[in-house]
Amino acid sequence: MNRKFVNEESGADRNAPIGIFDSGLGGLTVFKAIKKLLPNENFVYLGDTARVPYGSKSRQTVQRFSEQICQFLLDIPVKAIVIACNTASSAALDYLESKVTVPIIGVIRPGVKALIQRGARMVGILGTSGTINSGTYLKALEAAGFSGETESQACPLFVPLVEEGWHNHVVTEQVARLYLQQMIMHSPDALILGCTHYPLLEPVLRRLLPKTFIIDSPAAVARDLATLLEEKALLRQSDAPGSTRFYITDLPQKFEELSRQFLGYELKNLEKLPIETLERYTEKHSC
Ligand code: DGL
Repeated sequence: MNRKFVNEESGADRNAPIGIFDSGLGGLTVFKAIKKLLPNENFVYLGDTARVPYGSKSRQTVQRFSEQICQFLLDIPVKAIVIACNTASSAALDYLESKVTVPIIGVIRPGVKALIQRGARMVGILGTSGTINSGTYLKALEAAGFSGETESQACPLFVPLVEEGWHNHVVTEQVARLYLQQMIMHSPDALILGCTHYPLLEPVLRRLLPKTFIIDSPAAVARDLATLLEEKALLRQSDAPGSTRFYITDLPQKFEELSRQFLGYELKNLEKLPIETLERYTEKHSC
């Protein structure tokens, strides 16, 4: 794929929705924070529930999935895109930034910025295997001038435990205790939850790391998005509350329960998007 994503309408229309996507429902933690800060905006949320998890897939696969989703969102058209997934942000943001013609942000740089503002010297980073193995957080910390200590830990079982609704369960606490063995000894000043599912694990993580400050990455993403839209004169000019369209590529069994956990309420206006619709974009644009 070497042609630019072109969508001339989307850059200009302040009333167009903001596109937000994740591999599944974890990105709803980011959507919730954005909606709180920008209640008058319209949104399109896409959860790629048919292909979740992204965390164990190769960089190339996650790039291809992310590219298909961006094309779909640009065809709506959206005025900006938020990659509400750490795995997709680490695998695909740099690549998509050079292709997508509307403002696009991921979740990693805003989280790192919030951490720098906090002035932490020793930082713990948790994430999926894809995110941790990519070293993206370490690179982003270095680029932001961070010179303290870091300790990274991949926690591949966290996403299935959250998806099972066991975010505050004794088994999850045992798993977390194993993953965080070293971190519990070192007690970092601050912790980055490098996966959009992990905010639901905060009660467990707080019990294990009581002295550690947990960075609120979703709120940091919301603030950065608001600044970006303001700079680009893309904030919606309306006092009326915005609306949201939710697309998912498959209906997970525990969907209602999960949406309540992530959002605090059950999702309405849900549309199932056949995965073939996304896959067609690769065929359409591959060279
Ligand atoms: N939401 C993804 C992230 O932030 C985790 C889920 C997955 O592995 O797809 O990394």
